[in-house]
Amino acid sequence: MDQTIKNLFLFLSTNKMLIKLAKKFGLRFGATRFVAGETTDQVVKVIKELNQKGLDVTLDYLGEFVDSREEAFQTTELTIDVIKRIGSLKLSSQVSVKLTALGLDISEELVMKNMRRILDAAKENNVFITIDMEDYTRCQKTLDIFKILRLEYDHIGTVLQAYLFRTMSDIEDLNEYTACLRLVKGAYKESVEVAFPEKRDVDENFKKIIEKHLLNGNFTSIATHDERIIEYTKELVKIHQIPSGQFEFQMLYGIRPERQLELVKEGYKMRVYVPFGTDWYGYFMRRLAERPANVAFVLKGIFKK
Ligand code: FDA
Repeated sequence: MDQTIKNLFLFLSTNKMLIKLAKKFGLRFGATRFVAGETTDQVVKVIKELNQKGLDVTLDYLGEFVDSREEAFQTTELTIDVIKRIGSLKLSSQVSVKLTALGLDISEELVMKNMRRILDAAKENNVFITIDMEDYTRCQKTLDIFKILRLEYDHIGTVLQAYLFRTMSDIEDLNEYTACLRLVKGAYKESVEVAFPEKRDVDENFKKIIEKHLLNGNFTSIATHDERIIEYTKELVKIHQIPSGQFEFQMLYGIRPERQLELVKEGYKMRVYVPFGTDWYGYFMRRLAERPANVAFVLKGIFKK
């Protein structure tokens, strides 16, 4: 996609005024293709449907870059509610969280308190928690927090991004924590000082980190819609006889749904990342930045109204 359009959407994704407006006006412009609903009831229905098809889920209560304690508290409460729902209904679903939604930008003490409450509820309900990785400026803080919590809890993992130069060294570093990692290409706008600007370099690094983490013997979620990376992983696990319980594929809700089902039929574990909530705008803009076809889809939605 033309870099200028991509940059425009990534820029728009962080605009605070637009984030507020989007919350006020509700799911619009075709966002329902990527966001499963605004309420817990709506998303529970979607999880049940996905589970029935053999797909596992990781649920994301949307929200990021929160700057008030009250909002971070509300996000924590809602995340705990949803964990209890998953537990009581015995849904096959994990939960993903963003530290900026839980107060990372306000204070470390606050985000730790909120995370421990979430992890305690998750432990009681047997739900695994993944800390999503946000932009580069939060990467070190996120990993520091992950390491502290990993020593206290088993059911916690995080994400590393193939576009960052530092990631191979983070893979090595996290090995001693036997970290369950989701590996992704990376979705934020980063400078050439910290991230590979060329897609082919990102893809090469992605393959290297997948290989390294798997061969270190750690659980690896390969989160991508890229067919070449999926085929590469299948080949790699075959050659090295990696057990099926040591890895899974992950894709985003609404993207390549047929391929998700095919992979299940082929015998692979497939987890779908299902976002929900009223704070859908930033997530939606990043999905638009990834693919021109999505922009055309949205424009059609706008002009149909
Ligand atoms: P790439 O963008 O090269 O796309 C390969 C092909 O997939 C495209 O040619 C197209 O066919 C299809 N495709 C990709 N994106 C599409 C879209 N939006 N709509 C339709 N088709 C599309 N990032 C991050 O920084 N932190 C995180 O915590 C996470 N978490 C996360 C969880 C899960 C489960 C997934 C799948 C992804 C993330 N990401 C993420 C996002 C990730 O970094 C990346 O931006 C997207 O997955 C797109 O990259 P691909 O690997 O799919 O490859």
